[in-house]
Amino acid sequence: MGVNLSGRNFLKLTDFTTEEIEYLLQLSADFKALKRTGTPHRYLEGKNIVLLFEKTSTRTRCAFEVAGMDLGMGVTYLDPGSSQMGKKESIEDTARVLGRMYDGIEYRGFAQEIVEDLAANAGVPVWNGLTNEFHPTQALADILTMREEFGDLKGKKLVYFGKEQGNVSDSLLVICAKLGINFCSCGPKGDVEGATHYDPELLALCREIAADNGCEIVLTEDVDEAAKNADVIYTDVWVGMGQPDELWKSRIELLSPYRVTSEIMAKANPGAIFMHCLPSFHDTNTTIGAEIAEKFGVTEMEVSDEVFESKQSRVFQEAENRMHTIKAVMYATLK
Ligand code: CP
Repeated sequence: MGVNLSGRNFLKLTDFTTEEIEYLLQLSADFKALKRTGTPHRYLEGKNIVLLFEKTSTRTRCAFEVAGMDLGMGVTYLDPGSSQMGKKESIEDTARVLGRMYDGIEYRGFAQEIVEDLAANAGVPVWNGLTNEFHPTQALADILTMREEFGDLKGKKLVYFGKEQGNVSDSLLVICAKLGINFCSCGPKGDVEGATHYDPELLALCREIAADNGCEIVLTEDVDEAAKNADVIYTDVWVGMGQPDELWKSRIELLSPYRVTSEIMAKANPGAIFMHCLPSFHDTNTTIGAEIAEKFGVTEMEVSDEVFESKQSRVFQEAENRMHTIKAVMYATLK
């Protein structure tokens, strides 16, 4: 029987089989082709969705809005300050109200349990646009980008540079295991202020899945070991969304050896690419980047400007792919 995701939520990748993830990736590629050829695909005309953002966003918000409009849907955006959720109205009540007006709900915000709670009460598909624990639509876009570069991904190696555990690294850990991609996480072994290590249960689960799919998961602090045979070098900002500015000092001290530089890229496979979920602090052309430069004398953080702007960088293709993959998720769950 073929894959049918109609009516399903998209909350975390552990909820999906390899076959279902492959189906979403193929659908994303198909939607990208339609978009590129200017072929209309208003397949969900008459439906309406709401985007519930408790944190700021450029890519995720725009991807959901454009994808929703391309599919012919009405789209409502609720910004971090303009809904009653959490302040005057419980998650459950918000879900039950929105579920009566909309055909699908996107949530970006805090704990994973919030998006799970919304899904349990909405009666319509709920999509995770980033929680503290997972960023599953980002991981789908990352893999689509890798497939466009390499084709078959079984046995390829993705290395994530930076601290352990984050919504992006955790989602990559899961999707790599499901798709037979070797996943290496390279960063300090010891404790990082304000951060945790990978959840042992999630790690054990992913190791089991990886073993079944013929790939491995490696955690190391050795940059050379990590970069060797790498096909993708990936990194993310050192202080995540919603985390306090006080963390910058210790993060800069601990994570500077893991900055992605041309030297690291040179240790990877010929043809290796650089990826980043964005936004990125690769220069001082942002308020925070300029402040960090003034305070700590650091002008590039998780990635050097040279790598970010290099021919190996796929970051903007990756950002575009957020839209095609989110479109696939919405179509698959709403059709
Ligand atoms: N990568 C990502 O989620 O970007 P935004 O925060 O801009 O949505």
